[in-house]
Amino acid sequence: MAFEELIEAWDGEGVVVHHDEPTSSWMLIGVHDTTLGPGMGGTRLSSYRQPSDALDDVLRLSEAMTWKQAAADLPYGGGKAVIAVPEVPTPGSDDRRALLLRYAELVDSLHGTYVTAADMNTGETDMDTIAERTSHVLGRSTANGGAGDPGAATALGVFHGIRATVLRAFGDDALEARSVLVQGLGSVGSRLAGHLHDAGATLLLADVDAERATALADELGAKVVRANDVIGTECDVFAPCATGKVLSEDTIPLLRCRAIAGAANNQLATAGDGERLRDAGILFAPDFVVNAGGVIHLAGRETLGWDDATTASRLEAIGDSLLEIFDRAERESLSPATAADRVARERVAVARGE
Ligand SMILES: NC(=O)c1ccc[n+]([C@@H]2O[C@H](COP(=O)([O-])OP(=O)(O)OC[C@H]3O[C@@H](n4cnc5c(N)ncnc54)[C@H](O)[C@@H]3O)[C@@H](O)[C@H]2O)c1
Repeated sequence: MAFEELIEAWDGEGVVVHHDEPTSSWMLIGVHDTTLGPGMGGTRLSSYRQPSDALDDVLRLSEAMTWKQAAADLPYGGGKAVIAVPEVPTPGSDDRRALLLRYAELVDSLHGTYVTAADMNTGETDMDTIAERTSHVLGRSTANGGAGDPGAATALGVFHGIRATVLRAFGDDALEARSVLVQGLGSVGSRLAGHLHDAGATLLLADVDAERATALADELGAKVVRANDVIGTECDVFAPCATGKVLSEDTIPLLRCRAIAGAANNQLATAGDGERLRDAGILFAPDFVVNAGGVIHLAGRETLGWDDATTASRLEAIGDSLLEIFDRAERESLSPATAADRVARERVAVARGE
């Protein structure tokens, strides 16, 4: 789709489009909704087939952030940015630093309407660089006074989400009696696997990087599942922690699990896939509720002044929020995905005075 059509079809507040001459990159910032606070969301550094694919990503992801922040009850709205580069510059290189400093000036020009953080291919070192030119950034390294990498908090939040989902799907939350298949063993998935191991779950681990999967499986006494075999593998809980759109018309009929709860953003390929899962008798924990640990950590630590105990209890509350969503879904005969969407939209509507 062309730029004009994408923007016309989007109901967000604004999008900034900047072409970076020195690198022929596109810098795109989507601010979807600022009713609850400044649009907050990460900066994705990636190559795309064409600039409109990057715009499509930024528009969709910034909207998803609106609902994630609202569901987590944080004083932030939805925003997201993409730097669409011909080639991702090497971490630590002069080229990367120069690109990020120019990007930081663009973020700063919005005077806080958008607050950035790390996302795919960016991390706390990059946030340190960005912070040299703007204060509207979360997730700097702890050495520089920031909250650091949110992966650990996201993983702990997902763990609480899995426990609540197991409680609802099986009637008790004893993870010792359950098998969990974790797809993607990066920053979040590897830590989640550690929590599940400590809780006594039977672990199945998969990653496109087979060596990574084998090494972690050896460490945790888990079984490796080949990345291509994930969808048809029998397990109690499937935890997608790699990429989005893993749950679709094609994959749902092949699933052999009772419940799904994981970190990946936008797990449903289409809005109708929430109903499809419900019809298949699979309990789906909506991703934007389950994976909010990262934004809870960043906002709590850097903006709201929470101590360790408050942050920990807010991460634990992800489980309670899910149980409320499952209850509402049952009461109103909705899929959990639709119920979560309604909860988030109602919070924004109430704040708007609607
Ligand atoms: N890091 C966070 O705090 C955070 C917060 C919210 C949501 N998320 C989402 O959670 C997911 C994981 O995030 P992360 O930070 O751990 O990413 P990461 O890049 O550190 O790890 C992703 C892992 O998935 C593997 N992978 C990629 N495609 C795969 C496939 N098809 N099958 C199996 N493995 C595959 C990669 O090899 C890698 O090990 C992403 O979708 C991300 O958007 C992350």
